[in-house]
Amino acid sequence: MKPPQSPSSLPAGEILRFSAGSSPDARSRLDVERLAGAALRPLHDGDRMPAWLQDLPWESERLGAPCFNLWVSSDPEDARTIARLAPLLPRDAFIWVRVASEHLRAREALAAAGFAPVLEMLNFARRLSQPPPAETIDAELVPALPSDIEVLAGMGARLFTTDRFHADRRIPRGAADALHADWAANCARGTAADVTLLATRGGTPAGFHAWRILSFEGERAGATVLIGTLPEHSGRGIARALLQEGLARMFAGGARTAWVRTEAANHPACGLYASCGFAPCSRFWYFRMR
Ligand SMILES: CC(C)(COP(=O)(O)OP(=O)(O)OC[C@H]1O[C@@H](n2cnc3c(N)ncnc32)[C@H](O)[C@@H]1OP(=O)(O)O)[C@@H](O)C(=O)NCCC(=O)NCCS
Repeated sequence: MKPPQSPSSLPAGEILRFSAGSSPDARSRLDVERLAGAALRPLHDGDRMPAWLQDLPWESERLGAPCFNLWVSSDPEDARTIARLAPLLPRDAFIWVRVASEHLRAREALAAAGFAPVLEMLNFARRLSQPPPAETIDAELVPALPSDIEVLAGMGARLFTTDRFHADRRIPRGAADALHADWAANCARGTAADVTLLATRGGTPAGFHAWRILSFEGERAGATVLIGTLPEHSGRGIARALLQEGLARMFAGGARTAWVRTEAANHPACGLYASCGFAPCSRFWYFRMR
């Protein structure tokens, strides 16, 4: 493997334009800023470096094959760069690339270079100028404890079925379920989230909300990692109460912005975020090397 790229040589502006569009929102800018700390493998193309591969060890272990994010630094309207990348990519690997939805020519070029569109994602944001009011529901909201890890894993495996792993025909359903079980468990372990709130009804787990507190341009932001309500408890305002309580706790922790991301076709989640004051701010497609 080639040595990791030194962070200072990442052309963040170009990567941003490709993956997050011409007016990238703060969440997208932060995502790319955090890339500077990741181990990136440059893809050489003569003396130009049009792209970098980011190793994804957690996904690789769970899916049983090498997994990478591909970050492209090129003019999204210039299809030639993408065509030149295809022969440089490892075979028998899962390689995902994000492209801003507005870049139609880049999407066509990715498809011509052997990438398949998986699904479109929406980023939402809202300001937190004051804590939102608490919701009255017939459920109790309590911080998840280490003893709740198994409960969270069970909910993770059941709840998340509209994501890019489940939408991918190359990924067996059981592997996508197991990946989400581990992701939700890692929220309760505190490795995938800073705080996880559990909703219980009559002592029975009904849903959860996990989030991180991030720092960007001198301001704190709360970013929802996962949120869900088990189907047998849905439509009772539990997710809205979990989200509003999370926003109140983010505000108390100093966050003045909140971010959340979901699939553009996840209408229940998009409705939930809109009902809690979030507005969409950017959209992108996940493509995966066929
Ligand atoms: C999205 C989800 C969390 C909603 O949970 P819920 O507890 O049933 O939602 P609530 O009862 O609190 O509803 C709050 C608002 O969300 C929206 N909403 C919820 N279910 C909806 C649906 N099926 N269709 C459209 N909007 C919906 C509505 O705006 C609703 O407000 P209203 O009842 O006043 O119209 C739940 O369907 C779920 O867990 N889905 C699977 C996991 C997931 O996709 N999570 C989000 C991505 S991480």
